[in-house]
Amino acid sequence: MSEQPQWNADLYQDKHAFVWQYGSDLVTLLAPQPGEKILDLGCGTGQLTAKLAETGAMVMGIDNSPDMITQARENYPQLEFLVANGADFSLDKSFDAIFSNAALHWMKPPEAVIACISRALKPGGRFVAEFGGKGNVDIVLEAIASTLNREVNPWYFPSIGEYTTLLEKEGFLVREAYLFARPTALQGEEGMGDWLTMFASGILEGISQQKQADIIASIVEKLRPKLYRDGTWFLDYQRIRVVAYKLACVGT
Ligand code: BEZ
Repeated sequence: MSEQPQWNADLYQDKHAFVWQYGSDLVTLLAPQPGEKILDLGCGTGQLTAKLAETGAMVMGIDNSPDMITQARENYPQLEFLVANGADFSLDKSFDAIFSNAALHWMKPPEAVIACISRALKPGGRFVAEFGGKGNVDIVLEAIASTLNREVNPWYFPSIGEYTTLLEKEGFLVREAYLFARPTALQGEEGMGDWLTMFASGILEGISQQKQADIIASIVEKLRPKLYRDGTWFLDYQRIRVVAYKLACVGT
């Protein structure tokens, strides 16, 4: 069982706009320059790729989900998007910077992802990323585990120490790394159910639709006392952010 969801690009765009809204900060941290070649790794439906392109950078977006890439191309036909696996990609050009928002926790093994990133960067190029870090959605994972009677975590949520060590092993110089809590409000009364349907459906693969709906409803009720406040659902997000440079002597 892959535990990866069948992506639903419509549900993603309609109800999960916070994913790229929070990513705007990361674009500021990247500080794209006009004419720079930038790769958006795990671009989803392309909103942040388009934001990068607005700065005059030459951007390409890649994502492992054909549905997301179809939607990204529909949204921004003037931009270049490709279906590619983050742990096994090789492109025919190299980049000044690689950007990734809320995507690396899906890509495994991280060593292979970092090797692909290094290969795709020019010497001296920068890697600026944010994704789920240690402790991310722990409360949600606990509720899923107690409902299914088994431990589940299909994602990769590393500590700063673990992730920066992997980057250094691959020849990166890590300039910045943070781990911070970001309780994230979800849209509407159905917010937690929608989030679980969108992102945790891979965990329930092979179970009938009706049973899946029952399981999600039961997880939602377990979470209500902890993550529903004053009429709003919050996710217990912990984000890891890194800024790292490919050392000029690596791969040259
Ligand atoms: C996250 O952005 O932290 C996340 C998204 C989907 C599933 C798990 C974590």
